[in-house]
Amino acid sequence: MIPFNEFVEENSFVVCAHRGASGIAPENTVAAVERALESGAPMVEIDVQYTRDRQMVVFHDDTLERTTNGTGLITDRSLDELQELDAGSWFSPDFAGERIPKLVDVLEQMRGRAYVNIEIKPRPASEQTAREMAELLNLVRSVEMFNKCVFSSFDHAALVYIRSIARDARTIALNVPGDMRSPARVVGACGADGFGCSLEEVNRQRADICQHFRIPYGVYTVNTPQELEFVLDHGASGIVTNMPHVIIPHYRTISSTS
Ligand code: G3P
Ligand code: CA
Repeated sequence: MIPFNEFVEENSFVVCAHRGASGIAPENTVAAVERALESGAPMVEIDVQYTRDRQMVVFHDDTLERTTNGTGLITDRSLDELQELDAGSWFSPDFAGERIPKLVDVLEQMRGRAYVNIEIKPRPASEQTAREMAELLNLVRSVEMFNKCVFSSFDHAALVYIRSIARDARTIALNVPGDMRSPARVVGACGADGFGCSLEEVNRQRADICQHFRIPYGVYTVNTPQELEFVLDHGASGIVTNMPHVIIPHYRTISSTS
């Protein structure tokens, strides 16, 4: 696999599976990542958080209730405690026994198969952020995935730390809902390479600013062919989708006929 920097030079549009193929498998699990890879997704987005004993795991919510049979805050639990939980049955009995994966395991699952969009969940403002971002970079380097990853976050301070540690890290600033600054100001303030926003936040003004300043921008969550065509019409450089098995064939069809 070529480095992601080179991949985006060769591909003007990137389809990224959101929390794995989370429309057809329980989000942020090994099964969801595998379904995304099977659908041909060149990139997979995962959410990363710390456990009580400072292990990095792939999980979205602050709390365990929605997507596991556990309760309470994820940050209050050790890795061993979390790995006792069932993270698949809430989605379907077919996925009973899926676990909350360690980040390292998912990176190894994807190595050589897809690029990784690591979303760093917002951190409490703390002096720990610098250490955590250094640990994240060390982990990504230890599995030789550094140039196959991008780091995205609503927590722009975390992205600043990442760039201060690794100047060549690729970062995407996710627009904090309600932030009406232009994409140029958002990425300029934290030195990000790209901008990310929700489908609801896409408009002609943001699109024009991204085009004018040549800011790559991605949109979440784009799940239907109509939504895909809307964001393509607004000049997006990529999307994040729960439905890569639907979106990838549609993108191939429309890009081969245009
Ligand atoms: O890629 C951006 C998107 O994942 C952010 O929202 O809540 O799905 O993590 P969320
Ligand atoms: Ca996410």
